Amino acid sequence: MKNIIIAIDGYSACGKSTTAKQVAKELNYRYIDSGAMYRSVTKYFLDHHVSITNPKEVVKALDQIRISFVVNSKGNSETFLNGINVETAIRKMEISENVSQVSALKAVRIAMVEQQRKLGKERKIVMDGRDIGTVVFPNADLKVFLTADMLVRAFRRQRELLEKDDLVDIDDIIDNLKKRDQIDSTRKESPLIKAESAILIDTTHVTVDEQVDEVIRMALTKMIPKVNGNL
Ligand code: DC
Repeated sequence: MKNIIIAIDGYSACGKSTTAKQVAKELNYRYIDSGAMYRSVTKYFLDHHVSITNPKEVVKALDQIRISFVVNSKGNSETFLNGINVETAIRKMEISENVSQVSALKAVRIAMVEQQRKLGKERKIVMDGRDIGTVVFPNADLKVFLTADMLVRAFRRQRELLEKDDLVDIDDIIDNLKKRDQIDSTRKESPLIKAESAILIDTTHVTVDEQVDEVIRMALTKMIPKVNGNL
């Protein structure tokens, strides 16, 4: 069986990480949440009052940042920033409100893409983000692009935050998603666009299990070339 790289890109709150995590578990692959890396950088910048308009400060700060992923006892990947577990902290609204500005910086992207490529060296990886199929792994074996209606995305994000005891008004979530969509898809560096060869899945009316099954089915056709889509 061939070891493959699966790239899952798309807008915020379309179910990328839920799908990617589940696909990785079922294939016994490594899951990497590239958004968590940009969120961690954002947390570091906020905690250390790094001015994002000062390129020297940005480069100096990036040099101090070490991001790693550790799989916990439940089999879920958790994000560590300089040895500290930041998995919960990086999901807060304060981070969501600043991450698109930080992730638009060229120096930040260069540093993260380099780390992401290292993580993909041994293949057997599912990575989700915005530029995984276009920039990080343009030769990924399988590229998926997820989309969904804004209201569905906002309610999904609200439920996720609520599960972490963070009650956020639906209008604030919609505002944040719209702003991030706009910045993520119009930025100069690696804008969010669907790779030509990516398969588009609209998750508005699809359950997580259906999404996961669809990606696994496509992955198997790449892992076992003889299957050729006849599963
Ligand atoms: O997937 P997420 O919502 O946790 O990502 C947070 C932000 O990080 C998102 O608004 C854009 C940025 N991001 C990016 O620019 N490139 C990636 N590969 C992943 C995320």
